[in-house]
Amino acid sequence: MKILAIETSCDETSASVIEGKIPVKLNKKSFLGIKILSNVISSQIKIHAKWGGVVPNLAAREHLKNIVPVINDAIYMAKTNLNKIDLIAVTRGPGLIPALLIGTNSAKAISYFYKIPLIGIHHIESHIYANFIQKRPPGDIEFPILCLIVSGGHTQLVLMKNHLKYEIIGQTLDDAAGEAFDKVAKILGLGYPGGPIVSELAKQARKLQGHLDDQLKIADSKTRTSFPRPMLNSEKFNFSFSGLKTAVLYFYKKIEQETKNQNQLNLWKKYICKEFEEAAIEVLTKKTIRSAKEFKPKTILLAGGVAANSFLRDQLSLSVKKELPETVFSSPPPELCGDNAAMVGAAAFYRYILTKNKIPFQKNWKSLEADASMEI
Ligand code: KG4
Ligand code: ZN
Repeated sequence: MKILAIETSCDETSASVIEGKIPVKLNKKSFLGIKILSNVISSQIKIHAKWGGVVPNLAAREHLKNIVPVINDAIYMAKTNLNKIDLIAVTRGPGLIPALLIGTNSAKAISYFYKIPLIGIHHIESHIYANFIQKRPPGDIEFPILCLIVSGGHTQLVLMKNHLKYEIIGQTLDDAAGEAFDKVAKILGLGYPGGPIVSELAKQARKLQGHLDDQLKIADSKTRTSFPRPMLNSEKFNFSFSGLKTAVLYFYKKIEQETKNQNQLNLWKKYICKEFEEAAIEVLTKKTIRSAKEFKPKTILLAGGVAANSFLRDQLSLSVKKELPETVFSSPPPELCGDNAAMVGAAAFYRYILTKNKIPFQKNWKSLEADASMEI
């Protein structure tokens, strides 16, 4: 079956056509076959960069401009047409309400006009199901699964005992991990979105380690900074990133005042990115491993925009291998970590196959509503 999926929860207008292979016999634990026929993403980064973050009404205006061409492109690239689509999937929430409304209303209009069933999908469920599109080594994804979800709006540890069953076992009490990356980039004047820039500078700093130590005169361990690892040792599996961000702010203010040379200041920025990234990722990794030791999942999955961070992928993968060698670790391919519609289609396909008889698809063009604070 073919699914047209639409995603407009934040600053990416995306549409995708996926093809799902309907299983002859339903084995609830196995992978269903999914092929991405198209996945068009129109990013608004340049528009929001000037403001240092996403402006909801600007996002909605851009989604409105882009939604029809993006859907058309997705249909064209998939070499299909709307008459051949069996199901429409759309992100219903959580997200920015003016942005969500563009996607949901477009999906409702197509559903009504072409008489195609419609399904609303939770954004975090989509991020999780980005892991279920292609089988990835080293092993099969098996339940129970522990998911570390790290995006611009969420940081959660979610336990899945089966498909579509979610239990939140920990979450951030303040900033999300991606938000912390974005705020650190803003403090350092590096632009938006901060995650990829901070992670690139951190990578450069790791390569320059000895040189940085000499140039910044921080070889002596007493002069090195160590940013806090908030809630690292708290018993619960919650996170907090706002104290770490504030520590970066105060440290950078002092360095900025003391450093007159721009090249030297740029080296300090690289050093701060590295120290920040290592602090944030140590907390994410250690808490995931600790919760896995308690909940004993067979698989650990990474999901969300920050899952594209190569240091996080490497550290978590290494820690799982070392401390839980029996557990499979998997993350989506980097290009499917950020917001995109193919993951919405994947989640919709699993929902359709596993709950087909319980959802009134035919009526959904009338009743489906965007929900900015939708619960998983
Ligand atoms: O999932 P996503 O695309 O949108 C939301 O649902 O929020 O995540 C976006 C977040 C942003 O905060 C962005 O800075 C962060 O993911 N991000 C990264 C990286 N790539 C994107 N953070 C750290 N390292 C990266 N390589
Ligand atoms: Zn997202």
